Amino acid sequence: MIYANYAATSPALSPGVVKELCEYLGGTHLNAARNFEGLEAGAIALRARKALARLFNAADPLQVLFTSGATQSLNMAINGLIRPGDHVLATMVEHNASARPLEALRKNSVIEIGWLQCDSDGSLDAETLRKAIRKNTRLLVMSHASNVLGTLLPAAECCRIAREYGVLSILDTAQTAGVLPVTGGDWGIADVIVFTGHKGLGGLAGIGGFVIGDGASREMRPWASGGTGSASGSLDMPQFMPDKFEPGTQNTIGILSLAVSVEEILRAGVENIRERERSLTARFIAGLGELKKVTRYGPLDPDRRAAPVSVVVQGYDSGEAARQLFETRGIITRSGLHCSPLAHKTAGTYPGGTVRFSFGRETTEEDIDAVLEALSDL
Ligand SMILES: Cc1ncc(COP(=O)(O)O)c(C=O)c1O
Repeated sequence: MIYANYAATSPALSPGVVKELCEYLGGTHLNAARNFEGLEAGAIALRARKALARLFNAADPLQVLFTSGATQSLNMAINGLIRPGDHVLATMVEHNASARPLEALRKNSVIEIGWLQCDSDGSLDAETLRKAIRKNTRLLVMSHASNVLGTLLPAAECCRIAREYGVLSILDTAQTAGVLPVTGGDWGIADVIVFTGHKGLGGLAGIGGFVIGDGASREMRPWASGGTGSASGSLDMPQFMPDKFEPGTQNTIGILSLAVSVEEILRAGVENIRERERSLTARFIAGLGELKKVTRYGPLDPDRRAAPVSVVVQGYDSGEAARQLFETRGIITRSGLHCSPLAHKTAGTYPGGTVRFSFGRETTEEDIDAVLEALSDL
């Protein structure tokens, strides 16, 4: 089997994560902040918050909040920050995790949306954003990298422009966290940085979260109310962090997976992880260039992209090409629209879709060459 679907999920936990999870599972499990014995769960959450705060350059670990993943984080941040009558800007390569909550609000006449047009390779000119900002623009929602085309968007520049005009920004790092330095060491640029645990961060599925700046955390309404084990005499949610956004019992095992995995990433160095992934992707893109009947989508320059590479094989429906790659060579890809019809409309591959390849931690150069050979056979 050759796994070429890291953009969807990381297929294996590291041995270090597995070891700590097994030790945890064999022990006793108590609620954080509900009794003295439950201090362990709180300590695990703090350990993960500290590691993630270092990864995203957050000033305070309590600015790191946990959710079930990027989808929940995006829903919470979008719904918690908008007000009726707001204008929201989002890019034309967004994943449905943000496009659908935005569209639902638009259909209910709560907000207006301005979709920021990207080039056919997914690139966005930050000046497009400046021109689109209106008096009632409240929010910018953008991905750090397209999950279809791999294109890196000018996140730091866009968030800076947004801030210049008093527009709040939500940055979706589902495709980049743990693999690329996010916001170039200047985390303060995006008001909310959304992450998911099971892709580049190497944790379990079902854990994710967001990092939120002080201003946005004051403005954002809690997504839900409930017990926090704090300020229990009041029927209102506490206004302090992280309790304001974390009612109920947490996914401690998921949080532990993130703590261990992010600590490993910090030790390895995000720049080194990026360099390895960049060189694998560069090898793949160059090899694709030799195949006359394969069309590559997204930027050809590996410096301008993350791992996902979409292709169309002439004469093949994308689902059929993916099926043959799997059945003949055991290559696991993902075909179709990848939960981002907007990106496919941008690239001109809607509604047929593409076959998406994405390489990661366990991929070798031999794997890349074998995938190229399989494509050549097709
Ligand atoms: C850019 C982007 N945003 C959001 C998501 C949703 O992540 P999750 O399913 O972990 O909530 C994905 C997952 O594919 C993604 O690629």
